[in-house]
Amino acid sequence: MHRLQDYRETFLTYLKENATHKEPIQLYEPINYILELGGKRMRPILTLMGCELFGTDYKKALPAAMAVEVFHNFSLVHDDIMDDAPLRRGKTTVHEKWDVNTGILSGDAMLINAYQYLAQYDAKMLKELLVLFNTTALQVCEGQQYDVDFEVRDDVTLEEYLQMIAFKTSVLVAAALQMGAIVAGASAKDQEAIYAFGKNLGIAFQLQDDYLDAFGNPESFGKQVGGDIIENKKTYLYIIAMQNAKGEDKKSLQQLFSLQPEDSQTKIETVKAIFEKSGAVAAILAAVEEYTQLAFEQLKHINVSNGSKDALLAFGESLMTRRV
Ligand code: IPE
Ligand code: IPE
Ligand code: MG
Ligand code: MG
Ligand code: MG
Repeated sequence: MHRLQDYRETFLTYLKENATHKEPIQLYEPINYILELGGKRMRPILTLMGCELFGTDYKKALPAAMAVEVFHNFSLVHDDIMDDAPLRRGKTTVHEKWDVNTGILSGDAMLINAYQYLAQYDAKMLKELLVLFNTTALQVCEGQQYDVDFEVRDDVTLEEYLQMIAFKTSVLVAAALQMGAIVAGASAKDQEAIYAFGKNLGIAFQLQDDYLDAFGNPESFGKQVGGDIIENKKTYLYIIAMQNAKGEDKKSLQQLFSLQPEDSQTKIETVKAIFEKSGAVAAILAAVEEYTQLAFEQLKHINVSNGSKDALLAFGESLMTRRV
């Protein structure tokens, strides 16, 4: 088993070697900009780990890891347009640094790039990877559409929310791991178990993302703190607060989420206070823990020695305390 740092460094070297520097600059520069901005590289690291877990040299999974990371970054470029987000990884978002059309087209090219990386595998493996990748990519689109649809609804249920985040975020985390397992030639049962691990971990991850979006430290978070509140996103925090808040608080929350106020700073502060007071903050943190534990349960079903699962356990633990 390698250290996290080894996977990350090997991946970053591969990423640098594969950057496209050619014309038109307006198409390729934003792609290199977003891909080299940093980020945790969680998904490609999981692909590499998923491969090595089943006894295959993790370097064989580098093109799959790259496909996943390029797809993820494509989805972020388009997500930032949809969410009207000014900041990504502490820097200006692509559509603000260039413009919306640039964000759309560079994003499209990245999606195609992702397929080019997959095309490096031989026919049988390629087929398996494509089936999973395509199902996942469409689910991400479905999740993103629900996320936007929910902005103008005030009756989103917890169940609907969980389905939405499963699609927009956790299926890609799950698929990242399974793609590593596919490259390693793991059995169908093992692939299923590692996917289930990733699915639960991904839900914990998005819950934590929702928490940090409101309560992260603006100095280190790298995204606009309060962005979800400004955009009336129906997160776990909002749904639990609407269930628990009483009288004036409940009315005020509903009202604040039904319009675009002039002064978003006041909106953010008021909403955060209600999130705290209603117990929604405590509830979301408990849910992060709960889904992480559910993920760990799934590891039991993977047919490899317990010691080799330690890296995945440690990785899951570290996500719970992340601040970016
Ligand atoms: C951001 O993903 C989008 C979500 C699904 C929450 P990450 O938090 O993994 O973003 P980077 O790649 O590390 O910047
Ligand atoms: C993003 O969810 C999910 C995808 C990009 C598919 P968010 O909108 O919460 O992600 P951030 O917070 O902007 O990174
Ligand atoms: Mg967003
Ligand atoms: Mg979004
Ligand atoms: Mg978010």
